[in-house]
Formats: sequence, structure tokens, C-alpha cells
Amino acid sequence: MGIRMKVEEVLSDFPTINQVNYLSTASIGLVPNPVIERTKDFFIDMARGGTLALDEETEVRVYDDLRNEGSKLFGCNPEDVAVFNSVSEALNSIAWSLELKKGKIISTNIEFPSVTYPWLRLAEKENIHVKLITADNWLISDDELLEEIDESTNVLFLSHVEFISGQQFDLKKITKQAHEYGVLVVIDGIQAAGYIPLNMKELNVDVYITGSYKWLLAPFGTAIAYLSKNLCNTMTPAFVGWRTSENMWDFNPMELKYATTARKFEYSTSAYGVKIGLTESINYLQKIGIKNIQTHNLNLIDILKQELASIERIEIISPEKCGSIVTFTIEGKESKKIGKKLCSLRRPVELTIRQNMLRVSPHIYNTDEDILEFVTSLKQMI
Ligand SMILES: Cc1ncc(COP(=O)(O)O)c(C=O)c1O
Repeated sequence: MGIRMKVEEVLSDFPTINQVNYLSTASIGLVPNPVIERTKDFFIDMARGGTLALDEETEVRVYDDLRNEGSKLFGCNPEDVAVFNSVSEALNSIAWSLELKKGKIISTNIEFPSVTYPWLRLAEKENIHVKLITADNWLISDDELLEEIDESTNVLFLSHVEFISGQQFDLKKITKQAHEYGVLVVIDGIQAAGYIPLNMKELNVDVYITGSYKWLLAPFGTAIAYLSKNLCNTMTPAFVGWRTSENMWDFNPMELKYATTARKFEYSTSAYGVKIGLTESINYLQKIGIKNIQTHNLNLIDILKQELASIERIEIISPEKCGSIVTFTIEGKESKKIGKKLCSLRRPVELTIRQNMLRVSPHIYNTDEDILEFVTSLKQMI
């Protein structure tokens, strides 16, 4: 893996941080310079050179390398990883490949739309009922979720970390109960992978999907998914194409012979440059160490929560057990207006407004000082 990097040593890879107090990774992560360079070089080489830059061996290797690197992130075998182009695409592909005929599917009413839409779409066609657990002030009760699981349940689908509140679920506990009823657990981990250490064997989920452009610090245009061997072996991909085939270079249009691993869910050429970018960025994060990143991020979150709690009129929405996301409201203030004011500071603060709340989501390029500077500006404004 090469020399370990310290979190503090990577700041020079993110020049934007000098000008902007960037606290918006839950929307889009900043891409480190080495990843930008690697991705850009590949795009240029391929655009100029065609097959001179992308021979058959390289075309195979681009995905092989990403599956290998992804398997280190997921703590699983490379053959259990499939490469997609986005989280939404992966969720749709998996939902339609399950071929569920009837029964209940469980999730929550605060998920990102891409998490619920594929199942709501499926329910239009199949005899499937989607039960969305209602959140109380943006938080989901674990108990309520677990109580909903019964013999009629097919699938439970959930975010590892919720995109609005930052609530982090205890996947081990949820999966244990779900599996007692034979329920499949499909997880969207785009708000978790990159700063929460993952081990698929321990979590024991059936599917775990994540995307490139937030906490994994890569460009838009790719996602990876872990599929448990048991589940993968029973599924037939809903979407197929030349890459689906066990021997993709045979170009045999008369026989559809699926790859025997999770690779069977891959089906087409794609923006290979961003696949290379994601491979590079996962490697970059692993050189720092995901556990170290988690310690760093959660320290920032702790400081932020403590500071915000000392300000009257601020209500923190995020629960105690949350990822690297803190969301809050200010009584009597419109979040959009505060957001605009923060953007016009000498060193602007970039955060996200979601559902009229302020969402702060720091990552490796943020420091204690960034958090304190933000809170000081906020105090002056209110
Ligand atoms: C929880 C969650 N899932 C999925 C997405 C979107 O993923 P993609 O753009 O890769 O489809 C987002 C984007 O904000 C998200 O927060």
C-alpha cells in the first residue's frame, strides 16, 4: 500500500480549502490532486490515442482493479464486488433482478429518493407492498424498524447513514433480526463508506452499495456494490450487455453465458477514467486508514455538536450516533438566508441546506479550526 499518510499531511492535495471552508462532503466530496491527475491523464490519453491507450487487457484491468480496491474497502472478496455507474443505477439493477413476486418491503420515509423509488416502481408492477417507517423529527426508531420485520417481509432497504440527519444504523443488529425472518438487507452506504470501516462478513448484509463522489473523493460516474455470494448466485441480472458475459471478448451474440461472480451485473463500456479515479481515491483513503479518518471526522463532529449545543435557539437534529453529518435549525432564522450569508464571508463557508435545515459534513480536509471558524461566524450572524 506504500507509505501511510497522516490526515494533517493531505491538506495540500485540496487547494480549495485555502480559500473556502468546505463543509459539504455529504453533497460532493473534494477530489485530491493525485486522483484528479490520474483521471485526467487517462481521459486525455484515451481521447488522443483510442485503442493505443485502451487495449483489451487494459479494458479488463480497469474494472478488475476497481473490484480489488473496492473489496478492501468493503472487507470482502473481489469476486463479490460489481461495478456500476451510480448508486441509483445499482439500486434499480438489484431491485429488478430480485424478481420479487409478493410481500412486504420495508424502509423509511426519510431516505434519499433513489433508495425508495426503485421499490415504489416495482410495487406498481408486482404484488409488493412498500412500508415506509415514519421518522420522528427526522429520526427513525430502531425498535420500530425491527418490529416491522415479519414473515411477510421480503427486503429491508436502508441507508447506513441517513443523508439528512446523519443517523447511523446498527447494521449488525438489524441484519441479525432480518435474517431470522429470511429478509434480505440492501444497504445504501454512500454517506458512510470512506470514513466508516466496513467488513461485510461482520455486517452480514446481502447488498451494500456506495458511490464515488462524496466520502470516497472521486469524480462523478461510478459506484460499487458488494453482493453476498448466496444472494448473487440466485439472481439473474435484469440488465445485460457484452460485459455481462463470462468471456466478454468472445462476442458471441447467440449465447448469453453469465459471468459466475458479481461481475455479471456489469454490462457495458462506461467512463473508464472515473473508474480509474475511484480506484486511486480508495487507495488514497486507505493509505490514511479508514479508522484514522473516522477518528478525525468524529472528533470534528463532536466539537461541532458541543459548540452548537452552547448556542441558544439552535436545535441539533442529528442523533448521538451519527456519521460525519450534523444537521440543525436556528429558531426564527431561515436556513437559506444564513447559508447565503456564510457564502459571502471572506473565507466563505460552504455547507448544504436540506429541507430548510443547515447540514454540515466535514471530512479529511477539514480541521478543528474550520469548525471553530464556522461556529464563530454563525454566532455573529444570529
Ligand atoms: C443516500 C444517497 N443515496 C444515493 C444518492 C445519489 O446517488 P447517485 O447520484 O450515485 O445515484 C445520494 C446523493 O445525495 C444519497 O445521499
